[in-house]
Amino acid sequence: MDKKAITIDEVKQYWGKKNIPQQWYSKRTPFTLPWFNELAYKRYKIYYEYIKNEMEFEYHRGEDVLEIGCGIGTDSVEYAKYGANVTATDLGPDQVMLTKLNFNLRNLPYKEVREANVEALPFKDGTFDLVVCLGVIHHTPDTQKAVNEMFRVLKPDGKAIVTVYARGWKHYIKRCFIHGILRGKWFRYGLDWQKVYNEVTEVHGGTPKTAIFTKREVQKLFHQFPTLEITKHRMGEFFDYRPYNTVKLPRWVNNLFALFDLGAMFGDQRLIKAQKAYFPKEASLFDVWFKHY
Ligand SMILES: C[S@@+](CC[C@H](N)C(=O)[O-])C[C@H]1O[C@@H](n2cnc3c(N)ncnc32)[C@H](O)[C@@H]1O
Repeated sequence: MDKKAITIDEVKQYWGKKNIPQQWYSKRTPFTLPWFNELAYKRYKIYYEYIKNEMEFEYHRGEDVLEIGCGIGTDSVEYAKYGANVTATDLGPDQVMLTKLNFNLRNLPYKEVREANVEALPFKDGTFDLVVCLGVIHHTPDTQKAVNEMFRVLKPDGKAIVTVYARGWKHYIKRCFIHGILRGKWFRYGLDWQKVYNEVTEVHGGTPKTAIFTKREVQKLFHQFPTLEITKHRMGEFFDYRPYNTVKLPRWVNNLFALFDLGAMFGDQRLIKAQKAYFPKEASLFDVWFKHY
């Protein structure tokens, strides 16, 4: 982690305006419905295909759902489309404004869209059935505080779905080898890998903090949750992530990745599904064959 303590204000400053994620996926007129539609389409079809399968959008009708770090609100909108009572929050006023606009252009109802810091959520204990938080807690100064807050605001049988960066192919090849070693950033930063990560992650780089977590670190962060499932995803169907200049890998390469499930081993995102109550693990094949029959 950073040796110099970073502040929430620095994080808030960074994530406004040009750094609000997803906005560069579309060349259509910004802030219109076709713009939001294209951003959603590309998020679920190109950049983060696994999200559509894993976020359980259609399974939380009538439930109280909280999104933390909602960005432009694409995922919040998706839960609302399927009838959830959505509260969306983000640190920044720009993100709150864009998320409201995203809902309003679709005439979709929401419970509340407001500014909030994940480390001090302005909600009572046990308020939500589902808390979702994608790509946020690795940027906040105190990640453990963020996880504790999610646990606190969940109902006793509630669930959190969270993503953080993982040490996958992108981490070792792009961040460590290309930027750290070949381009000499690790040496320039006095052998401090954290400074390299801060500089080279995100489209415009230069984040106040970007942590990359191992599975063990995630288990430690979520230790309060009795039911925990951690998986890895996303090989990245593209190598060049500059705005408007994405180079997709040929379809056969992606199919090959999928065939061998390489995302589970080398994916750059860690997906965490954490439940506040204890649910026994699914039976093993052994149980099914030798105990069930
Ligand atoms: C990488 S973006 C992810 C946005 C969105 N969830 C997505 O997947 O596109 C990180 C977002 O988290 C927000 N964020 C960062 N630190 C936060 C904090 N402490 N509390 C709430 N939101 C935070 C930023 O303002 C930014 O909108």
